[in-house]
Amino acid sequence: MNIGLLGFGVVGGGVWELAQENRALNVKKVLVRREAPSLGKAAVQDVEAILRDTEIDTVVEVLGGLHPAYEWICRALAAGKDVVTANKAVISAYYRELTALAHENGAALRCTAAVGGGIPWLVNLQRCRRVDTVTEVGGIMNGTTNFIMDAMARQGADFPAVLQRAQELGYAEADPSADIDGDDIRRKLTISANIAFDALLREEDIPAFGIRTVTGADVADFRAHGFTCKLLACAQRTETGVAAYVEPALVAEGEPEAAVPGNYNLISCTGELLGRQSYFGQGAGRYPTAANVVQDCLDLLTGEDGFYTETARPMAVEADAVAHPYYVRTQAADPWLKSVTADRWAGGVITGAVPVGQMLRWAAAQRQRDPGCFVAGIR
Ligand code: HSE
Repeated sequence: MNIGLLGFGVVGGGVWELAQENRALNVKKVLVRREAPSLGKAAVQDVEAILRDTEIDTVVEVLGGLHPAYEWICRALAAGKDVVTANKAVISAYYRELTALAHENGAALRCTAAVGGGIPWLVNLQRCRRVDTVTEVGGIMNGTTNFIMDAMARQGADFPAVLQRAQELGYAEADPSADIDGDDIRRKLTISANIAFDALLREEDIPAFGIRTVTGADVADFRAHGFTCKLLACAQRTETGVAAYVEPALVAEGEPEAAVPGNYNLISCTGELLGRQSYFGQGAGRYPTAANVVQDCLDLLTGEDGFYTETARPMAVEADAVAHPYYVRTQAADPWLKSVTADRWAGGVITGAVPVGQMLRWAAAQRQRDPGCFVAGIR
């Protein structure tokens, strides 16, 4: 396999290193922004040197971001080159376009590292789907937010201090919004649900509420009632579509999710025949992510294709199709909240079962009146 590697950052450098160990993989050219003496003649600074090279059969994209990654992946697929990417933003936003282009050109598109970093989640989800009807996917798919929720629960620390620690450790970005507001996990859920249900979901249709406003007092309140709070993604098959959403969730101590430490992920699928299967591991990092990129390349060599099928179709996101109780803390009184309140804890109220879409729409609106409000589903 002759590889053109787009990107030589944290993951790209890891891919280069791991590929040197495997004689079946020849990284012929690497697109770099600056001089990279360690790459010798492989370093190129013009992407055309890779996209126009007919000896390169596989393009590995680890640049991140939507543009120019999308355009360059399109160019590679249109030229009949297989593409392996770790880029969840581009796969989630352009799943429909990229899978169609791959089909048209008889090229493969693989993205195992885009969801769960080093966890072989998407490959096994695809295997489950071959023999079973998948009814649900989701779980802890963002390591930064799990690190924050875990530290708050174990150390009793408050959100700002733990976020700062996550930034010092390099888990959270300087601008942590994508992680703590749920955008990152929503992209991973979109890709997982598309593969699980043969769907073409739009990520912007999936309601999401993040952990930005959780407090140490909330966490103490949850603990007093036997719960741990995690940012969870969930997508369930419904009669006519997919009930997909991202929200903080209170899971009972003793449930597998409650025990997930630090920046680990725990991603699950449920099948009609298989029941629940869960995958635990590092959802980010140089070598875990690079290993899954290299695994995708090796799978191409043994004849594996993309995960998607030609039968994928647009499906409605029906977050109102599922309902459960919620913890709600807000300083701004609201008549609807009062009408669904069933109980009171120290800091907030507990509702009866409320449709998820309805609650997350209400929470988004309530944030305009009370920016500090917080909601969490109770499983
Ligand atoms: N920011 C992501 C996380 C990195 O914390 O899980 C991997 O996608």
